[in-house]
Amino acid sequence: MLFSNLKLATMADGSSYGLIEDGAVLVEKGRIAWAGPAKDAPKGDRIDCGGRLLTPGLIDCHTHIVYGGNRAHEFEKRLNGVSYAEIAKAGGGIVSTVRATREASDEQLLKSAATRLQSLLAEGVTTIEIKSGYGLDVETELKMLRTARKLGATYPIDVVTSFLGAHAFPPEYRDDHAAYVDLVCSQSLPAAAREKLADAVDGFCEGIAFSVDDMDRVFTVAKKLGLPIKLHAEQLSNLGGAILAARYGALSVDHIEYLDEAGVAAIAQSGTVAVLLPGAFYYLREKQHPPLAALRAHKVPIAIATDLNPGSSPVHSLLATMNMACVLFGLTPEEALRGVTQNAARALGFTDRGVIAAGLKADFVLWNVERPGDLAYPLGFNPCAAVIRQGEIVRG
Ligand code: NIG
Ligand code: FE
Repeated sequence: MLFSNLKLATMADGSSYGLIEDGAVLVEKGRIAWAGPAKDAPKGDRIDCGGRLLTPGLIDCHTHIVYGGNRAHEFEKRLNGVSYAEIAKAGGGIVSTVRATREASDEQLLKSAATRLQSLLAEGVTTIEIKSGYGLDVETELKMLRTARKLGATYPIDVVTSFLGAHAFPPEYRDDHAAYVDLVCSQSLPAAAREKLADAVDGFCEGIAFSVDDMDRVFTVAKKLGLPIKLHAEQLSNLGGAILAARYGALSVDHIEYLDEAGVAAIAQSGTVAVLLPGAFYYLREKQHPPLAALRAHKVPIAIATDLNPGSSPVHSLLATMNMACVLFGLTPEEALRGVTQNAARALGFTDRGVIAAGLKADFVLWNVERPGDLAYPLGFNPCAAVIRQGEIVRG
């Protein structure tokens, strides 16, 4: 199968977007057999792409799409002057979603998550990361992860999961944080690993959540279980979570608005990806920007993701997230596209996707746009013409 008559944004290193003006891609058995200028193309059954732009399939590398309930009323509260941290301390926030998620049936969880997933699929997302973290007891954490796996088995998308038992302290452990960390380390996380429900281990390291020492304990167990780690770090303050994560060779540190130069140097050293989440910054009306200049100077790979969740980022669009990363954080449109392809793949530990090159997975999106920079420009407009997964057209 030769996809031809297309503009090719390979996202390969080097030149701008790895752009090939008149390109072609040969696909065999779900993989890219060859990609390059049309004039050099090998033979194959031609599919005429009408001169459109082809990019790698998009990757949303940080989401919380499995949850019960609704928190729109907290948006109203925040706009009436109550802060995100105050709402959390008063038993709202993450903990209120925990109540609703514990109460939700398997069917309800699957159905509501599938609706959210549809929005992302429509924009060419072919790989998604989904976290637990709204169960906070053994059974509900597993229920969330099983739901995520089921989404991957049902829809044309690769799902990778992160165990996020260390997301918040559940009400029953409000006065005994150490005992909850014990539960995560000795029961929830080992159970998730036993059932092969967790591809990575994540946490929320923050004043209103887990301390660096708490996360150190959780990561020690993750390491013993052979699971890679990630961390929500330096979102609301600089606690040093990123430096801890770097010590464990983390795949990514996420949010990082308050990350300082020492933290940037540490993650540069460990090859950890910086995942920026402009949706949460936007919704929480934060003022502190992530240290983009330092990340660039230290050549830290930058990814971006929706952080789709019921509280801080009800953002159902990766294209809108690319735009926000440009407008709010100052990323270039090329950095934004690299952030949802090549670097998002790295944030999930994948080496087989995120770029269009021979040997990699044939996951692509065909777009009705003139240039790759156009993808990050509009808001509320979806130019996706077709989605190709493992060489098969699954949409369009
Ligand atoms: O990534 N930072 C912590 N966790 C989520 C927020 C979850 C929520 O508010 O429900 C985040 O922003
Ligand atoms: Fe998150």
